[in-house]
Amino acid sequence: MIARVKQTDGCVAIQPIGPRHERQWRDLWQQYLDFYDAEIADAVTRHTWQRILDDELIIGLTAVNPTGLVGFAIAILHEATWSIGRTAYLEDLFVRDSERGCGTGRKLIDAVICRARAEGCATVYWHTRGSNVAARRLYDSFCTADDFVRYRLSL
Ligand SMILES: CC(C)(COP(=O)(O)OP(=O)(O)OC[C@H]1O[C@@H](n2cnc3c(N)ncnc32)[C@H](O)[C@@H]1OP(=O)(O)O)[C@@H](O)C(=O)NCCC(=O)NCCS
Repeated sequence: MIARVKQTDGCVAIQPIGPRHERQWRDLWQQYLDFYDAEIADAVTRHTWQRILDDELIIGLTAVNPTGLVGFAIAILHEATWSIGRTAYLEDLFVRDSERGCGTGRKLIDAVICRARAEGCATVYWHTRGSNVAARRLYDSFCTADDFVRYRLSL
């Protein structure tokens, strides 16, 4: 058996998501939904894709290596009541299973922070499941998690 040699993070470029990424982004998006055992209507995916391209309040970034798209991050900029100016909510982060552990997730978060700062945001925030060990190890290296608990009521 030939051992798989992983790309180093030096081979990964972070780029804004653009129309040319659609097919590969959809493939990764589906893997992301599968990771969460989630199903969403294709109309929602189409709508989200269009907003990534058109909405100035969305930061959409891809991680690209010589094999193609290997990850993405999507953040939403919004106003807040406790500060003047916007804040950034990092809603989605995903790295292809075979490419994990090479620093790509960290690069994507770094790039979101950089873009959010450039947009004048005072904070970036995000959340994950308490049980998502891999994500939490990465996130803990950026800042300390607070003790807020999320409530979500379907309407
Ligand atoms: C979370 C995720 C984006 C991390 O991406 P990644 O490219 O593997 O992350 P990185 O390689 O930048 O990892 C950086 C750090 O995270 C930690 N880490 C990454 N994978 C890990 C794993 N499987 N187990 C434990 N720690 C891990 C390491 O501490 C690593 O630290 P280091 O830089 O000092 O080595 C990726 O695992 C993923 O897409 N998971 C599925 C979707 C998901 O959970 N998304 C986040 C939802 S909120």
